[in-house]
Formats: sequence, C-alpha cells, structure tokens
Amino acid sequence: MRVQYLGRKGVITSALRVLGQLPAEERPAQGALANQLRTEIGQALEEARGALARRTLDRRLVEETIDITLPGYPPTIGHPHPLIILRNDIEDIFAAMGFTMSLGPEIEDEWHNFEALNIPPGHPAREMQDSFYIDAAPTGTGRLLLRTQMSPVQIRFMRAQAGRLPVRMVAPGRVYRRDDDATHSPMFHQCEGLLVDHGISFAHLKGVLSALAHRLFGPSTRIRFRPSYFPFTEPSVEVDVGCTLCNGHGCRTCKQSGWVEVLGAGMVHPRVLEAGGYDPEEVSGFAFGLGIDRLAMLRYQVDDIRAFYEGDMRCSEQF
Ligand code: PHE
Repeated sequence: MRVQYLGRKGVITSALRVLGQLPAEERPAQGALANQLRTEIGQALEEARGALARRTLDRRLVEETIDITLPGYPPTIGHPHPLIILRNDIEDIFAAMGFTMSLGPEIEDEWHNFEALNIPPGHPAREMQDSFYIDAAPTGTGRLLLRTQMSPVQIRFMRAQAGRLPVRMVAPGRVYRRDDDATHSPMFHQCEGLLVDHGISFAHLKGVLSALAHRLFGPSTRIRFRPSYFPFTEPSVEVDVGCTLCNGHGCRTCKQSGWVEVLGAGMVHPRVLEAGGYDPEEVSGFAFGLGIDRLAMLRYQVDDIRAFYEGDMRCSEQF
C-alpha cells in the first residue's frame, strides 16, 4: 500500500507532480490536499506497521511461555548395587576380625580350580560343578575355565604366604556355573574365607560364621549347621539361615523348608594344606565359601536372583 500511494509512481506522488499543469488558482488547494493525504496515509501506514509488529511479538510471547513456577527435575544420584553394598559389609566384618582381602583370576586353570583342591580328574565333583571351559590351548596346569568357585584363591593365597602364619584371608568375587533359574544365575558371587594356624578347630569356624550371621542379619537370626561333603574340607558342613522371605513358614526361595543354604564350609583337607605349602601335621585350618547373592536375597527379601542382574532401574533404585 505504501508503494501504491506514496511510491515514486504512486497515486499521491503523481498528483503532486501534475500540480504544475493545473490552473494557478486551483494549485494551492490541490497541493494542500495532496500533502495532507500524504501525511495521513503515511501515519496510517506507520500505525498499521506498529500494530502488526506488536501482534507478532504477542503471539511469540504466548507460544514461548515458560512456567517458571514448575518444580525442577531433581538430579538422579547413583549409589552402589545391592550386591556391592552387601559385599562391602561382608568385607568390613571380616576386616574387623583381622582377615586380609585377596582376589584371584576369574579365568582359572584346572590345577587351581580342581586338582589342588583334592578334586582329581574323573572326580564326580568336576561334573557336579558343570564348568564353562575356555576354548584355548591347555596350559601346563591344565585347561582354562571360568572359575566355578572362589576356593582356588585359598591355594593362591597360601602359596603366596610361603609358610607364614597365620593365613587369614577373605576373597570375594565372581564365579561361573552352567545354571540358570530363580535361585541360580550362571554368574554369581561368592566370598571365600580361609584361616590356617596352629590349633585351629571347628569351634573357631562356628564362632566366626555365627558372628558373621549375627552382624549381617541381627542377633536373633537363626542359623544351622548340616553335615555335608566337599572334597577340600573334612569334616564339611553346609550352613543355612532361617528364611527371611517367609519367616520360616515355607516359600519358593527356601523351597518350602524355612531354611536357605548360604554357605559351604569345613576343616581344610590335609591334601589342600599340602598343595598350599603347609604341613598338615603342624597346622590346621578352616575354610568357607558363602554365596553373596543368596545372602542378598535374604537380606533384601528378593525372591528372584535374576533381579540383581537385569539392570532394571525400578529394582536397583530401591536400595
Ligand atoms: N567352594 C564351595 C562351593 O562353591 C564352597 C566351600 C568353600 C565349601 C570352602 C567348603 C569350604 O560350593
């Protein structure tokens, strides 16, 4: 519109240009009229331009509304996984009793995982453990496999101690077996314990394990020792904790028995002491291997071990 009326060839401009051709008496009136029109049209156009700009700004302000009264998103703060929380607690309890922590390789050889633990070739325990063997050339100490238990760390630790006493270690770590259901995962966690010294008896074993159970689960926790068999301990026991999911009434986790097996233990077999470089005539010891995942199920009342491994935040966030 501005071009149409006020432009170089616009209506008003043309009218002013032809003023000279008008009779002299008409010029002042026509000139004044044309100038007045030019001013009015110019003002009207300015107003319209301003109104358009304001409308555009208003629309943008409405579309871009930010409600600053809304609460913000709290940052999610990470924390240790329940299995790590429990593992740390177990380590603290044993550290307070003077045990040293040791690790050991997740890929073991047959000598450390079986032979040195009094499980010779062909022994049914080798099948019992249902191992994951590694597809690699055998070493001088047998085939390689994912360790099926933490007990090989007993051997490694004793040999590293080179005859020094006492031998007092705990070894938490991952172990692997071909198992997979609500109470078994193909990878799970154990904590091995070993104490060797002069005059160590079964009473020491019972005392240490009772102290552990009471510190982890409270002084009223019931535990029971059942005779059992392991090639690397004699005598051997399995230790059960009263089921915390059903308070002993029977459920899927305790297989309706009211008790959950959480560890194997016993007095270190003379052959194992020898494999570790100790004289069974001189010293004795106890060993135990506890299932961290089982203990976590009892502590946190989780009835499916797989919940610890699925990485579902709805689960992990609860601890
Ligand atoms: N290594 C045994 C297992 O994995 C547990 C165990 C450890 C038993 C030490 C006795 C002594 O089942």
